[in-house]
Amino acid sequence: MWPDLIKKAKEGGLDAIETYVFWNVHEPQRRQYDFTGNLDIVRFIKTIQQEGLYSVVRIGPYVCAEWNYGGFPVWLHNMPGIEFRTANNVYMNEMQNFTTLIVDMLRKEKLFASQGGPIILAQIENEYGNVMSSYGDAGKAYINWCANMADSLHIGVPWLMCQQTDAPQPMIETCNGFYCDSYTPKNPTSPKMWTENWTGWFKSWGGKDPYRTTEDLAYSVARFFQRGGTFQNYYMYHGGTNFGRTAGGPYITTSYDYNAPLDEYGNLNQPKWGHLKQLHSVLKSMEKTLTYGNISTLDFGSSVAATIYATDEASSCFLGNANETSDATINFQDADYVIPAWSVSILPDCKTVAFNTAKVNTQTSVMIKKPNEANSSILEWMWRPEFTHDTIVRGKGQIVANRIVDQKEMASDASDYLWYMTSVNLGKDDAMWSNNMTLRVHGSGQILHSYVNGKYIGSQWAKYNIFNHVFEKEVKLSPGHNKIVILSATVGLQNYGPMFDLTQAGVPGPVEIVGHKGDETIIKDLSSNKWSYKIGLNGLDNQLFNPDCKRVKWSMDNVPVNRNLTWYKASFKAPLGTDPVVVDLLGLGKGEAWINGHSIGRYWPSFIADEQGCSDAVCDYRGSYNGDKCVSNCGQPTQRYYHVPRSFLNEDVNTIVLFEEFGGNPSQVDFQPVVVGSACATVSEGNTVELSCHGRPISGVRFASLGNPQGVCGAFEKTSCDSDKDVVSIVEDQCVGKESCSFKVSQDVFGSPNCFDAPINRLAVEVSC
Ligand code: GAL
Repeated sequence: MWPDLIKKAKEGGLDAIETYVFWNVHEPQRRQYDFTGNLDIVRFIKTIQQEGLYSVVRIGPYVCAEWNYGGFPVWLHNMPGIEFRTANNVYMNEMQNFTTLIVDMLRKEKLFASQGGPIILAQIENEYGNVMSSYGDAGKAYINWCANMADSLHIGVPWLMCQQTDAPQPMIETCNGFYCDSYTPKNPTSPKMWTENWTGWFKSWGGKDPYRTTEDLAYSVARFFQRGGTFQNYYMYHGGTNFGRTAGGPYITTSYDYNAPLDEYGNLNQPKWGHLKQLHSVLKSMEKTLTYGNISTLDFGSSVAATIYATDEASSCFLGNANETSDATINFQDADYVIPAWSVSILPDCKTVAFNTAKVNTQTSVMIKKPNEANSSILEWMWRPEFTHDTIVRGKGQIVANRIVDQKEMASDASDYLWYMTSVNLGKDDAMWSNNMTLRVHGSGQILHSYVNGKYIGSQWAKYNIFNHVFEKEVKLSPGHNKIVILSATVGLQNYGPMFDLTQAGVPGPVEIVGHKGDETIIKDLSSNKWSYKIGLNGLDNQLFNPDCKRVKWSMDNVPVNRNLTWYKASFKAPLGTDPVVVDLLGLGKGEAWINGHSIGRYWPSFIADEQGCSDAVCDYRGSYNGDKCVSNCGQPTQRYYHVPRSFLNEDVNTIVLFEEFGGNPSQVDFQPVVVGSACATVSEGNTVELSCHGRPISGVRFASLGNPQGVCGAFEKTSCDSDKDVVSIVEDQCVGKESCSFKVSQDVFGSPNCFDAPINRLAVEVSC
């Protein structure tokens, strides 16, 4: 997908592509490196270069990013004597080793701008300033060491440290956030730079779909440049998918769409992409004055200000209104201007408004999933149980310890799954023996399933941002040996916060048998029992996800539904064409999915998003954005559709394999292409409407009205203020049958509406694709 995404980024007016470097995927085992296939960072940067763009490389190597363990390899955690992100020699040695390796690799390929390459900036650490105080003096020593270490690599381009007030020189501190206009670097010689402008937000299991309006995002950018900004990066411009087990959190979804300008599948998220493209082009038209001009500001009160960038030859202006509710009318340099609330007008010549952040002319594209024409009937499923006799019944693992071991330490992240198994010898004379006994497990907030004497007794899990929970369920125990088995399933390892790396994973314990005798509870702690551990699943060991693996037999008989720990497999034909593909996993519980052996990530359509917090009202772009504002998808599966990149698909036969952990029904699983269903625009008189079906023909005009149409895309309505001509037919003549069309909104063409109270006529149009 890289070349296409990079092309779309360039077309959208970007100059540079910023990327993190993920340590855990490049050094999965200590000193064993992987830069093959999708991990080929040199090829990625060369692809950027070929497209004529610059690159910003955020090596970290701690990256946060809602990525598993913030990008740290878990073997690092298991090194004796290590302490992360502080003045600790073991850690610093590993960090330096990896950072140097990356720098040397990029240098060898002459990729730094100092060598003629595209990399103009690099980053070391990530938002350490947000957590530094928790590390005391050692934290300060560490960040100084980071600066010296990075500097000693002599890359010939500046190093950044984001969210690091007063970064040790010569590091440049930068800002991350939804707005950075009021940020000023502490070091007076540092340029004002913004490494992460959050274009939307990430999603967690149980969380809602984030939405940051185009108007507000454009406002944040324009305001940043109005107030002296020099570099601004969108986080994310394309967030994509957390394939495999790369999602962190815990509880970050597989989709990392982020409501970014390029959506999860690489489609233009319109109008965000197009409105920003216009903004970029206007800003670039002022490059000379913005970079060389002197800045002066005129304050009009009520959060309204004009900023003038002036050189001897020319000047460019911004008129900003930070008021959340009131539009402003100001007289500036002998002319009157109306600046809508929470918007910035840009006047490249200080006279004519070339762009206002709140006036969106770009079309809204409504994406839809289409039926798959290549598959004539429903899929034929085969199945296999996960073989659990050794674990659930016999309690037999590979490793034994006389304690409860943290999952990171025991499994080193080789799998989401870890079996904890023990046996407890009980007698009726035990103090806790009673008619009412429970198994109580103190968990880390991740998923746990419990079995006693070979029988499943229950499961529990938490949600995003909850790091401990208690499972307790009544159990029937017998005098003599009782087998207690817990299957732990992690949903990504924590990625943010002071000392986040120490957050427990799996079952931290204690694990107890609790006897309830009236009001009294007597606890038998099993934590220092002899525990047997098995990492992963038999099906994973046997590579059931690999379609070439012929060793095992699958059954077509009595394909079960709602059976936990079950593997499913089916063949399918890919949807025709080149549109992105998703698989609808509605009906399934939770697990992992593979297409032709590639993991497309964890799935969990049975996790319903919070019921609360959504609204039917049109989202008001005015006022500060946060990740809870304007959310949608309340009460629906958190993530129902999963991205299947075309590059994972064969033209003829493809294989899907599911590992279903909770129990579900695969009968509705369906592969669908994602296409533009319709395109809408609302454009004022005098401006140009551009409509496109992203490569497909416009098939019809669903709505068109010049005057004062109301409503939103998909639900436009005419009012009495409407043109005297048949506007729909005029648009049909211009657009139907074409891939795109463009025309000016004028009364000459579209007729004269009879409106008394709406002096500006707007054309609202919706076409079907
Ligand atoms: C920042 C961090 C990013 C990402 C972002 C939220 O704090 O630097 O890596 O986690 O938050 O999406």
